[in-house]
Amino acid sequence: MTNCLRINEKIKSFKDQITVDGDKSLSIRWALMASQAFGKSKAYKLLKSEDVLSTLECLRKLGLIVKFKNDYCEITGKGPDGFMFTRGLTLNAGNSGTLGRLILGLLIHSKVKIRLIGDKSLSKRDFSRVTIPLQKFGAKIVSKSNKRLPITIIGSNKIKPINYFENRGSAQCKTSVMLAALNTTGKTYIKAKKSRNHTELLFKYLKIKMKLTKNKSFDFIEIKGKQKIKPFNYEIPGDISSSAFFMVLTTLTRRSELLIKNVNINPSRIGVIKILKKMKAKISLKNKRVYRGEKVADILISSSKKLKAINCPPDLNSSAIDEFLIIFLAAAKAEGVSYFRDISELNQKESPRLKWGSKILNKMGVKTELTKDSIKIYGKPDLIITKKIIIKNYLKDHRVFMMSTIAALTCGGQWEIHNKDSINTSFPSFLNILRKINRKSL
Ligand code: S3P
Repeated sequence: MTNCLRINEKIKSFKDQITVDGDKSLSIRWALMASQAFGKSKAYKLLKSEDVLSTLECLRKLGLIVKFKNDYCEITGKGPDGFMFTRGLTLNAGNSGTLGRLILGLLIHSKVKIRLIGDKSLSKRDFSRVTIPLQKFGAKIVSKSNKRLPITIIGSNKIKPINYFENRGSAQCKTSVMLAALNTTGKTYIKAKKSRNHTELLFKYLKIKMKLTKNKSFDFIEIKGKQKIKPFNYEIPGDISSSAFFMVLTTLTRRSELLIKNVNINPSRIGVIKILKKMKAKISLKNKRVYRGEKVADILISSSKKLKAINCPPDLNSSAIDEFLIIFLAAAKAEGVSYFRDISELNQKESPRLKWGSKILNKMGVKTELTKDSIKIYGKPDLIITKKIIIKNYLKDHRVFMMSTIAALTCGGQWEIHNKDSINTSFPSFLNILRKINRKSL
């Protein structure tokens, strides 16, 4: 069973410095925007995970030249009308909701039918959240249940701009519409609940004309279509979502310290740091700087003697949306009862994560109270596991795998965690970095 990770021992104290793999949201966005530019764009430190490789494969199928050179990836874009739409084309988004939802925005003017498919996990996820607004542009989209993959999209020559209200706080929905707007003559207006703003920052850096205003809860975006985009080079900073596993590992390991170098700390992504700090984790940001409009820093974490439970403010949910599983593990080791609410979106991810988070904590002997959109976690600061725990059949959700691994290394017990290769979705170096810190084979 080589695809299964067995852990029988807790990690020893460590003091180390690491870098994590490149940010997934930025890697996918770089590739998609490079595809819309005229000329050669390069990305250094691009995340070479399955989600990003699926993105590059889709662009190749759409007729673009994508090359890996020594230390960079190069895409030769042919502008907004530069895709080759060939009859019978099927694009495979693999496991990636971001790729699947974003690329549909770039297909609304296709002259032929294009089929979008994905793996078992992606085929269970809701696509109506993007197909509904994209149909308003004039694209025809057909799927069995109007909700899930496989989906067939065919553009129309009557594509027109739209007014769109994004009320979920989904950056994927917002970005899909922003990309569609680029292929539209006229102005698209978006009112969007706060969510990660990488696309806006990239548009600004690329000098794509866009009007952006904000109030406390919403962003208002106005985009003029059919603009010329220049090719651009980008060095992708580390992913805070990947860093989060190491933040909690260090917090929960005695007499340890870790410096994670060069991580994207976009304010719309740092909910995990804010939440862990409220729980009394010791985390600080060093060497802060700005790169292409994105904030970047080194993150220093040291062990926490005592974590405190949190009543998590829902206004932090969006900025921590991918980190809740590992935050739940911190809550399991905190003193008191933690409460996370308004997080039903977690069940819309690669696996129903709210359910999986609760299930894993229960297996560990931690009591939870679960509803469809909230969880209470009864923390056990002195938790030591001695029994055997098996984690399998979790739709290969990479973050379920990584949370379980960190739980095993910090709480003890004999763990058997299946589908080790699930990490290739977002963080292929995860186990190698753990081996370096742990000085042991895993
Ligand atoms: C992402 C947005 C988030 C996040 C996903 C990546 C993005 O999804 O969970 O992992 O890159 O735009 P939603 O926009 O659906 O919340």
